[in-house]
Amino acid sequence: MVISRENAFALLKQYVNSSNLLKHVLAVEASMIGYAKKFEEDIEIWASCGLLHDIDFEKYPEEHPFKGVQILLENGYPEDFILAIKGHADESTARETLMAKTLYAVDGLSSFIIACALVRPDKLEGMKVKSVKKKLKDKAFARAVNREGILQSADELGVDMTEHIQTVIDAIVNREEELGKIGLSMLS
Ligand SMILES: [Fe+2]
Repeated sequence: MVISRENAFALLKQYVNSSNLLKHVLAVEASMIGYAKKFEEDIEIWASCGLLHDIDFEKYPEEHPFKGVQILLENGYPEDFILAIKGHADESTARETLMAKTLYAVDGLSSFIIACALVRPDKLEGMKVKSVKKKLKDKAFARAVNREGILQSADELGVDMTEHIQTVIDAIVNREEELGKIGLSMLS
């Protein structure tokens, strides 16, 4: 099958109505696009991986990520794509590919950066790595985000934390502008 962002989005919409979950997967998609460019990988595939990684989370939270795996299998997605998605939420599945490791590394951080933007007067504009790091240390802020997971997954991907945060900020800033043109937003 040919993986396209358009098909992935259409499939996603069959399973996701929650605007919060949609915003989360759009942020993860943004980061996957940023990293696909950085690593010179296929943007459509990596974007689709970001969009579809939590496809089962709204309707089948108890079966996450296994129901998602089943949905993707039924829709003809290839094994490495499905394994990357399985790997972000199943500790028994090794993350062997760059796509799998990247998805795992951007899942929590993407939402964290959105949470940071939402409390800034200028939102994403001018956001600095330093302020994100400060918020990571502030345990009272965005408590649901697992700090340990962010550090450990960046380590697994083999990226420097400062550079990693900058890559995700840049990816989200670029993508938010593009999304605005089609009436979508990660922020509202
Ligand atoms: Fe996620």
